[in-house]
Amino acid sequence: MNILIGENIVYKLKEYLKAKKVNRLYIITDENVSRLYIYGLKDIVKDFSINIYTLKPGEESKSMATILSIYDDLIKNNVDRNTIILSFGGGVVGDIAGFVAATYKRGLKYIQIPTTLLAQVDSSVGGKVGIDYNGYKNIIGSFYFPEMTIIDLEFLKTLSSREITCGLGEVLKCGLIYDYKFFQSTIDNLDNIYNKRLDILLGIIKKSIGIKKEVVSKDRYDIGMRRILNFGHTIGHGIEAYYNFNKYNHGEAVILGMIYESYIAYKMGLIDSPYFNEIYHGLKKLMAPVRFNDGEIRNLIHIMKNDKKNFDDNIVFVLPVLRGKVELCKNVDERLIVESLEGEWI
Ligand SMILES: NC(=O)c1ccc[n+]([C@@H]2O[C@H](COP(=O)([O-])OP(=O)(O)OC[C@H]3O[C@@H](n4cnc5c(N)ncnc54)[C@H](O)[C@@H]3O)[C@@H](O)[C@H]2O)c1
Ligand SMILES: [Zn+2]
Repeated sequence: MNILIGENIVYKLKEYLKAKKVNRLYIITDENVSRLYIYGLKDIVKDFSINIYTLKPGEESKSMATILSIYDDLIKNNVDRNTIILSFGGGVVGDIAGFVAATYKRGLKYIQIPTTLLAQVDSSVGGKVGIDYNGYKNIIGSFYFPEMTIIDLEFLKTLSSREITCGLGEVLKCGLIYDYKFFQSTIDNLDNIYNKRLDILLGIIKKSIGIKKEVVSKDRYDIGMRRILNFGHTIGHGIEAYYNFNKYNHGEAVILGMIYESYIAYKMGLIDSPYFNEIYHGLKKLMAPVRFNDGEIRNLIHIMKNDKKNFDDNIVFVLPVLRGKVELCKNVDERLIVESLEGEWI
């Protein structure tokens, strides 16, 4: 994985393209990122021939309809295999651009320039690309690694607090699955993070990427250890899908998922009450858990049963077992899942 990271480094794209003798770029972005940054980017790549495809922002764009529309545009513009796809935006743009790059003409090279905290710490690293289908999140996709990822912290300056929370979900997850001190120091630094102190954010992004890279390098294709990255995602994905991906964004849902799943681990005796409380009170600073009613819980469990992480019919969880350590768990009693979501304990 080739990653450049720093402040004001996006201009290095030009050097990279020149060194690789690229002459054509197909840029995929969304309307928000385009409004803020496309002029700057166009200036950097003005020596190259470019096409730009601009998506509507948001998870709803991560659909087959979008993919087909991009294929049509690629064909219309005679885009050939020597063209580089450039993903310029958050995780939605990255997952779509990567999927297009993986499939169009059996694969084009692609570069990621992630512009959200979530994309910088997580989705631009690890090679997972894909789309949602029929209400199921990321159900269609592949593994396809970018040639290069350029992480420029300047882009973070225009993010809303909500988008920062979203990225922090994955950052805090890295701490809980791999490095508990990192979880604690991130919680201690929340004010600085929300105030966009780029020096602090640089350290946090580097650390999160380091953890993700290490986990992914041991299991590129997600058949073993990599599954620990799904902590918080079993319930998190359920919550996202239940609300049709428009009430909670991904990172917010993951934070909620980590809270409920930690409660399950606590009730199973995998972690003790002091540790559960540390996780709960830390994460609650970012997202308050909610109580779901019976009907909502039934639907949530139905969605979770269709999660791609499952073996047979068992819902698979990644649960905390020690500070900074999690394990895969396939036999969680459904009554405990219900109890966690009922939230009497909140
Ligand atoms: N492939 C992976 O490994 C992986 C990992 C985690 C998440 N994801 C996926 O990532 C997606 C979520 O990514 P996201 O949170 O980046 O969402 P997103 O791409 O929808 O971006 C969030 C919002 O921020 C806007 N935005 C982007 N950059 C901005 C900037 N610099 N300033 C101001 N606004 C900006 C976008 O237009 C959008 O409205 C989900 O679809 C999730 O499934 C993928
Ligand atoms: Zn995630």
